[in-house]
Amino acid sequence: MTARTVCCLLLLPLLTTGCGGDKVESTPGDPQHGRAAIREYGCGSCHVIPGIGGADGRTGPSLERIAKRVYLAGVLPNTPDDMARWIREPEEVDPRTAMPNMGVSESDARDITAYLYTLK
Ligand code: HEC
Repeated sequence: MTARTVCCLLLLPLLTTGCGGDKVESTPGDPQHGRAAIREYGCGSCHVIPGIGGADGRTGPSLERIAKRVYLAGVLPNTPDDMARWIREPEEVDPRTAMPNMGVSESDARDITAYLYTLK
């Protein structure tokens, strides 16, 4: 009985930290850095992206008001997680897509997603 109580007391902070950890993971990224990352990766060579100088590519769809889109690339529901997934590995989602895997890191994908969600 006592051992169990002690065990619970020990576990409680761990569980709380665990929850906190999850929260950090789903925290939206940094849109300012996302904007810089979009320039670095050159997404604008294929997409029109409002707020990004020189982003006037026509190969892909315009990302204007992308936050309001219901589906991404016509196949994924438009949620932050799926957006980040698409940006990281588009051909895993849709093998026939013309959008290449650009080796975007997980945190860059989150930041880019945060920026794209400012486009309403
Ligand atoms: C070589 C051209 C090319 C590059 C570079 C490129 N994309 Fe794309 N992207 C596409 C194409 C083509 C589509 C349409 C995909 C489809 O419908 O299958 C697309 C689709 C998308 C979509 C979904 C748009 C919608 O209307 O549903 C997003 C978001 C996106 N790209 C973001 C990015 C980001 C962020 C980068 C930079 C990391 C990037 N793209 C780089 C060609 C490109």
